[in-house]
Amino acid sequence: MVWGAFRIAGNPETSGIASIARTVDTCLDAGITTIDHADIYGGYRVEAMFGAMLATRPDLRNRIELVTKCGIALTGPARPEHRVKHYNSTAGHIRLSLENSLRNLKTDHVDLLLLHRPDPLLDAAEVAGVLEALVKEGKTRAVGVSNYTPSQVALLQAKLNIPLVANQIELSVSHTAPLTDGTLDDCQRLGISPMAWSPLGGGRLFDREKGNPRLVDLLTALAAQYGVSGPGTVALAWLLRLPSKPLPIIGSTDPERVKALARAVEIEFDLQDWFQVLEVASGRPVA
Ligand SMILES: NC(=O)c1ccc[n+]([C@@H]2O[C@H](COP(=O)([O-])OP(=O)(O)OC[C@H]3O[C@@H](n4cnc5c(N)ncnc54)[C@H](OP(=O)(O)O)[C@@H]3O)[C@@H](O)[C@H]2O)c1
Repeated sequence: MVWGAFRIAGNPETSGIASIARTVDTCLDAGITTIDHADIYGGYRVEAMFGAMLATRPDLRNRIELVTKCGIALTGPARPEHRVKHYNSTAGHIRLSLENSLRNLKTDHVDLLLLHRPDPLLDAAEVAGVLEALVKEGKTRAVGVSNYTPSQVALLQAKLNIPLVANQIELSVSHTAPLTDGTLDDCQRLGISPMAWSPLGGGRLFDREKGNPRLVDLLTALAAQYGVSGPGTVALAWLLRLPSKPLPIIGSTDPERVKALARAVEIEFDLQDWFQVLEVASGRPVA
């Protein structure tokens, strides 16, 4: 599985060097070695927070894989020149964004660079050229996409001489569209790793008022049955049972929660339990 750094900037308790280091150490102890970033997280601040931590803990860099993303251009104080939120998939922007991420993360390479969102103005040949060059220069080990449909993957891959290794998508028991819209079929067919963002629905999964209380009850009962501490761990194990082998990106900033959620890999999901979760999540039995 993967740990996502998106939420650390929201809270002074989670954005300090000691706190980030504690979470990364917890991840490593739990077998999670991949950390997900994007240039824009925390209003363009999270990568620098993480880099400040790495500068004090250089031992960590060779024990983790860093993922970052580019292509979304936010408005706000960090980018006063942006008049409107937009995408930028030009070769110049992709290169500049990755070089900026490397400076902020205080590293000479990332392990995976993703294009954050599909862009109607993306020129596949131009993007393929810069992605290949960045891999050749050693600035990223591999490339992939995020929130792409199968046809968007096919368009870019057709121009690219290296494989797209990942498609980071929204996927959880409460967001199952990729199971039926072709996205996960495409990943399985092409050997692309699906990375599941908001695998707990961004925490909304646990909200009995606004969410699906029957689903929370079922996941809680299954947690007791499988001997793990809570419904979230079962919700991640449900994703791990998919044959396209999704990598859930845990978003919790609480090391104890991260440790508990990482135990999802220990669960061997029973076939009928799996379909019972699907039935309760979707509100109807399979046809
Ligand atoms: N590619 C994309 O477009 C995209 C979009 C969104 C996110 N991402 C990536 O995906 C990662 C994960 O997304 P996410 O943060 O939405 O993941 P998530 O794991 O679904 O949600 C994390 C949130 O759930 C809360 N939570 C966890 N367990 C809980 C429980 N038992 N009860 C109540 N709340 C609980 C956490 O709070 P605590 O921190 O207090 O535990 C945190 O606020 C991000 O960090 C980012 O790297 C990518």
